[in-house]
Amino acid sequence: MDYIMGIDVGTGGVKLLVISAEGSICTQATVSYSPDLPAPGYSEQDPEVWWRAVQEAVAIAVDKYPPCRGNIKALACSGQMHSSVFLDSNGQVIRKAILWNDTRTTAQTKEIYDKMGRDRLLQNVANLALEGFTLPKLLWLRTNEPDNYKRLYKLIMPKDYINYRLTGRIATDCSDGAGTLMYDVLRGCWSEEILADLDISRDILPEVLASDAVVGNVKGELCRLLGDNCVIIAGGADNSCAAVGSGMNHSGQGVISIGTSGTVIACMDRIKETPRGQVHLFNYYHPDTVYAMGCMLSAGESLNWLKRTLFEDISFGEMDRLAEASSVGSGGVIFLPYLFGERTPHNDPYARGMFFGLTGGTGKGDIIRSVLEGVAFGIRDMYECVLKLSSVNELIITGGGAKSDLWRQIIADVLGKELKVNNISEGPALGAAFLAAVGSGAADSLEDIQGRILSCANVTCPGKNSVDYEPYYRLYRDVYMANKDLFKRIGTL
Ligand code: XUL
Repeated sequence: MDYIMGIDVGTGGVKLLVISAEGSICTQATVSYSPDLPAPGYSEQDPEVWWRAVQEAVAIAVDKYPPCRGNIKALACSGQMHSSVFLDSNGQVIRKAILWNDTRTTAQTKEIYDKMGRDRLLQNVANLALEGFTLPKLLWLRTNEPDNYKRLYKLIMPKDYINYRLTGRIATDCSDGAGTLMYDVLRGCWSEEILADLDISRDILPEVLASDAVVGNVKGELCRLLGDNCVIIAGGADNSCAAVGSGMNHSGQGVISIGTSGTVIACMDRIKETPRGQVHLFNYYHPDTVYAMGCMLSAGESLNWLKRTLFEDISFGEMDRLAEASSVGSGGVIFLPYLFGERTPHNDPYARGMFFGLTGGTGKGDIIRSVLEGVAFGIRDMYECVLKLSSVNELIITGGGAKSDLWRQIIADVLGKELKVNNISEGPALGAAFLAAVGSGAADSLEDIQGRILSCANVTCPGKNSVDYEPYYRLYRDVYMANKDLFKRIGTL
């Protein structure tokens, strides 16, 4: 029997699953870790941590389901986007990777605008210069760690690093290439113009494959567990893979994903208008496919932060029950989920998290519910931006946060839109497994494997609270606008 493995290399850990060629999930494993936050705005991770977690997860998965030991036909990874792995000419990591939610790079985004201009940037790479993207991190390294920059041989992303450790080949795929701000999303190639303007050598960029292309055969220590014939497929950016794993394959479909970050994605046939930067425009699994995406930096992370900080002694289930006992508007408490600044819709690295409207009567349930609602309001912000570029007839929700019935209901109410949940909601890792199935010939096409495995398990419809959320959503928007300048001030104290 042939088995296919998908691995998501996330910010909070590695999630792995194995599917059989017929399409059932045979085994799963999760290994957690966390990013290093050495200073406000900084977020880093040692790539060795990802590699060790992948090795551990593979070992756990094959131990749990011995028939797949040595019989993995193909493996693909999905990974956090934009996070920069700097390799020297010996293939050694030069410094810790600077992650997607690291916002130290405001000066570098300015440098990009100064040298390219906003319009030419959008024409070349279809996206604005945001702190989290890869190019600003590269420029930060050049300015702040020139010795490290001199040693730089290749710049790749987290899932590419795992592919490199598995095969010895350095490459990326188009969905991760698109998140670097150096890839011409419309034409599907590195943008010579941006490289020339910013004086960056084309040599430090890896070759770019389709997400279902073969990288090579597995080599080294994991052969024993995966099998000598295991083929490594390029895989993709986590948001692209989450959409693949949710069944997105034609325009009109959209996916909300609640992981550490939160995203709203809409599949597009092509980019019809000149990009204006309201949302990210990235390549999907082939260079000629695209999607529009809004991204909030702290979605699941807002709830994780709350639990870590104030509710360590109770479970997420108990937190949900407390929140359920509160009501629409959380007793007048509004939470701004901008713990790491915010991208869509504000593109504001200075934005901060906030509880607004606390009173002597505010209870634990109100606080928890306000976090769930604040993230739902942020999702509505992204959804409205995405709708300006693409219609969305069908909206699927995935990711850890989508497992909470209460949170899903709040989001459906706030959006006023029906949300579908699939029978398997394993987002990025499942999408990576689908790409591995297509790339290795175990499936004829993406539609084939998605159709074989996925079905709709549940629909959450907007309910009577939908109308009541409107004034709270407007207040949420106003609370940010009223505090926008104050956020900058607190950063200077
Ligand atoms: C997308 C983004 C995040 C990361 C999370 O642009 O930065 O969603 O991909 O891993």
